[in-house]
Amino acid sequence: MHVRRTPSWALPEREVTPEALYLNRRAVLAAMAAVGASPAAASTDPEKLARIATRRTHDAGEPPTPLADVAGYNNFYEFGLDKGDPARNAGTLRPSPWTVRVGGLVKSPLTLDVDRYIARAPWEERIYRFRCVEGWSMVIPWVGVPFASLVRAVEPLGSAKYVAFRTLADREQMPGLRLPVLDWPYREGLRLDEAMHELTLLAVGVYGRRLPNQNGAPIRLVVPWKYGFKSVKSIVAIDFVETQPETSWNMATPREYGFYANVNPNVDHPRWSQARERRIGEFRRRETLLFNGYPEVAGLYAGMDLKRFF
Ligand code: MTE
Repeated sequence: MHVRRTPSWALPEREVTPEALYLNRRAVLAAMAAVGASPAAASTDPEKLARIATRRTHDAGEPPTPLADVAGYNNFYEFGLDKGDPARNAGTLRPSPWTVRVGGLVKSPLTLDVDRYIARAPWEERIYRFRCVEGWSMVIPWVGVPFASLVRAVEPLGSAKYVAFRTLADREQMPGLRLPVLDWPYREGLRLDEAMHELTLLAVGVYGRRLPNQNGAPIRLVVPWKYGFKSVKSIVAIDFVETQPETSWNMATPREYGFYANVNPNVDHPRWSQARERRIGEFRRRETLLFNGYPEVAGLYAGMDLKRFF
């Protein structure tokens, strides 16, 4: 029998579940039960994943969160709503072969063959703080490259102002798509200058190995100064566009989740404070830092009212 352990740092479900979802929880649970749990494949076991050669370029200056938590406590609603569901259910995702279509308002659109890309790129290890909007945080050693390197390769046109990202939406591989939780596929977006910022990472691994499925294999975004939901997983399409793209959480609950989603202790979520956070593995909450402690991004928002553009 599977015994579910509730760790001390877990937050009450009512605090962290989006309002619409919480109210609709009974229907959601019934749908998940109908889907059934799938057997875990090797790609959800981080120890069995291929290593990637890296050199460390960023260090958060704090000990990384243990791999068991990084790959065991996840949000990936395409595989269920509980934190352990992605590790349990994401064995059905097939991260190889995988392609990402990169296009829209660019001079040189391309289709990225992710296996070949992983074999080729000069990968970096970047240890970043990662803050979820729900109030927990981790320190994660990602393997990636600045997203800007991909932007430069496709040569955006002058009219491109935003970048829109889309996750795979395949019902056969992702049992959670049967849940009416979000308007699938999962979509996210950044302003072009945010996407070009040196900290914005296109990640293909954690802890020196390829990404476990539950962490968004084979390729995902990591935007360390924003709440975790901006860091879209298992990307299949990237489009350069002229106007602010629709994003899944903003469409679902616009009052709760803005387009910018910068980590900001001074702007509360309508249902809870964002002033503090619980680092996974620690007991006492710590103060949340503006921009998650990455002040170098402040210039991107000069003159903007961060309460209005939350
Ligand atoms: N991407 C997709 N496609 N689906 C999701 O449900 N959840 C987001 C983000 N990216 C999510 C997603 C949220 S809310 C968080 S906090 C992070 O992924 C979690 O990333 P991690 O599980 O690797 O820590």
